Amino acid sequence: MAKYFALIPAAGTGSRTGDPTPKQYQPINGRPMLWHALNPFILHPRIERIFVVLSPADAWFAQMRWDEFEPKLEVLRCGGESRARSVLNGLQAMAGTLARDDQVLVHDAARPCLTRHAIDQLITQVADHQAGGLLAEPLADTLKRADEGGHVLRTEPRERLWRAQTPQMFRYDILVRALSGGTLEGVTDEASAVERLGLQPLLVKSGATNLKVTYGEDLRLAEFILNSHPGP
Ligand code: CTP
Ligand code: MG
Repeated sequence: MAKYFALIPAAGTGSRTGDPTPKQYQPINGRPMLWHALNPFILHPRIERIFVVLSPADAWFAQMRWDEFEPKLEVLRCGGESRARSVLNGLQAMAGTLARDDQVLVHDAARPCLTRHAIDQLITQVADHQAGGLLAEPLADTLKRADEGGHVLRTEPRERLWRAQTPQMFRYDILVRALSGGTLEGVTDEASAVERLGLQPLLVKSGATNLKVTYGEDLRLAEFILNSHPGP
């Protein structure tokens, strides 16, 4: 029986927030955003272990309290220069612990509003899917293509367009093969690397509340969402 593991890349700097503290450590309801990103996996009974990838130079993590997450949480200080590199370094560091067909749920530290229900949906729908899969949201807005001056060139059809989210779940061997088999440039999620292998990951419908915090104002939105649903 395949086991389930979580891998949380948290080695970024959060430059787009404009704040010197990396966004994964910025407070939401009095706790670092990373705490909220880890918590649903800590509470989920199917997840054996959670690996968090930090930058080797990270000075913030050690200043905060994580003892309630022990012993399920393991810290890997092997972050790289891009998200994909941090994920690949993490996978390599996990090698001794995982079997080839164990499932890895890769989840951004910048998505603090993930629910237990969404993890359940991903695991249930993707467990037997050879190519793996990811949470994603069908596009609802009308799409405009702009010219260089910011004027509308045309309206683009939005049929069958989805916004990729995390977690993204793949078998360990597929993920390692996908990320180590080609350039990591332009690889902004695991699915895009898996697609290069000629595989078609399954899209699992998720909602807008699983937002990614990118800009400063997103932190308050995340707080609002967390306070509006009953908990992970
Ligand atoms: N990440 C990482 N290693 C990197 C870059 C990013 O582990 N070298 C992680 C981030 O910590 C985050 C996730 O990948 O959890 C998604 O990346 P993003 O939202 O782009 O975060 P940052 O790169 O930190 O932010 P920015 O792009 O604004 O600098
Ligand atoms: Mg980034």
